[in-house]
Amino acid sequence: MENTVLTSETKQSIPLLNPYKMGDFNLSHRVVMAPMTRQRSYGNIPQPHAVLYYSQRTTPGGFLITEATGVSDTAQGYEYTPGIWTKEQVEAWKPIVDAVHAKGGIFFCQIWHVGRASNRGFQPNGEAPISCTDKPLTPTKALFTPPRRLSTEEIPGIVNDFRLAARNAMEAGFDGVELHGAHGYMIDQFLKDNVNDRTDQYGGSLQNRCRFVLEVVEAVAKEIGPGRLGVRLSPFTDFLECGDSNPEALGLYMAESLNKYGILYCHVVEPRLIKGGEIKEGGSYTLAPMRKAFQRTFIVAGGYTRDDGNEAVVKGRTDLVAYGRWFLANPDLLKRFEVDAALNKYDRPTFYTSDPIVGYTDYPFMDAIVS
Ligand SMILES: Cc1cc2nc3c(=O)[nH]c(=O)nc-3n(C[C@H](O)[C@H](O)[C@H](O)COP(=O)(O)O)c2cc1C
Repeated sequence: MENTVLTSETKQSIPLLNPYKMGDFNLSHRVVMAPMTRQRSYGNIPQPHAVLYYSQRTTPGGFLITEATGVSDTAQGYEYTPGIWTKEQVEAWKPIVDAVHAKGGIFFCQIWHVGRASNRGFQPNGEAPISCTDKPLTPTKALFTPPRRLSTEEIPGIVNDFRLAARNAMEAGFDGVELHGAHGYMIDQFLKDNVNDRTDQYGGSLQNRCRFVLEVVEAVAKEIGPGRLGVRLSPFTDFLECGDSNPEALGLYMAESLNKYGILYCHVVEPRLIKGGEIKEGGSYTLAPMRKAFQRTFIVAGGYTRDDGNEAVVKGRTDLVAYGRWFLANPDLLKRFEVDAALNKYDRPTFYTSDPIVGYTDYPFMDAIVS
C-alpha cells in the first residue's frame, strides 16, 4: 500500500475520525465496535482466542463493546456465550481487557439476561426460562421453552444480578458496562407491550413497563458510577416477537428518564434495521426525538457505512456510530475508513460458529492484501 499516513488536517475532514470526549473518556475517533455475540466462549467462560479478536480491533482511543455477557446462570440462551457471574469468568476476562487496554482502547462489557429467549437446556436444573411473562415465543421456534413469569417479589433479585455483574465487570478491569436493553431480551421484554402482560407495578402503563430497566440503571449506576454506564435500546425493532404498539413514545420516555440518572450514553438501534440484519429504508420512524431528548452521548447503530456514518455525525444526528458486521469482518476498519479503502465482505455462516479462528481472527488486514 502506498503512503497511508494521513495528516491531521485530512483526518479532520473525515467527521468519523474527529476526537470526542465521552464523559471522562477521551476518544480519538467516533467509530465504535458494536456488541457482537460470537459464541466461542466454551462453558460460558471467555477464552484466550478472544484476546486476539478484540485486540485486533482495538485502536488507541477507540471505544469497543463486548459481546453480550450473561449476568447469572439463568441469563443464557445460546451456546458458548460468555458470562460474568463467577470468579472464573471474571478471571478469564482479565487478559482480554488487558490486551485492549495495552493498545489504548476503551472497553465496556455488555451485560444481558435473555429472559424467555432460552430453553430448559440452558437453565439450572432444567427449569423453565424466566421472563416478565409466561407467553411463549411462537412454537415453530422449537428452540425456545415457554417461560415462567417472574413473581413481583423475584424482580429485585434479577436487578441485583445486573448490579453484581456490573461490579464483576469492574473487577475484571472493564471501563464500564452497557446494559443490553435491545432486541427482545429480558429488559426489552419488560419494555414492550406486545410481550409484557403484567398487572403489577412492572406492567401495564409505559411508566410501569420501564420500571424494571430503570431500577437496573439505578442499581448499576450506584454500584459503579453513572459515568461508567451506557444503555442500549431498540424501541423500533421487533426481534424475537418483541415489538411495541407505540415505539416513539417508548423511545422518548426512555431517553428522558435516563437523563435523570446521568448515565454516560444512550445507544440506539436504527428503525431501518429489520430481522436478519436487513436494512429497510424509507420508514417513517427516526431517532431524532430520542437524540434531542437525551442530554449526554448518543450512539447509533444499524446498517451504517462510512459515508452515512460521516453524514450522521456532520448533521448532528449522533455523537458516535457503532459498526457491527463491518467491524467483525475488518479488524482494521478504522484504517480503512481513513484511506477510504475497500472493505472485506463478512461471512455470515461463521458469525456464530464456535471455531476459535475461522471467521473470527482470520479476516485479513489491509496491509496483508494490498502490496
Ligand atoms: C454476529 C452478530 C452478533 C450480534 N450480537 C449482538 C449482541 O450480543 N448484542 C447486541 O446488542 N447486538 C448484537 N448484534 C447487533 C449489532 O450490535 C449491530 O447493532 C447490528 O449488527 C447492526 O449493525 P451493522 O449493520 O453495523 O452490523 C449482533 C450482530 C451480529 C452481526
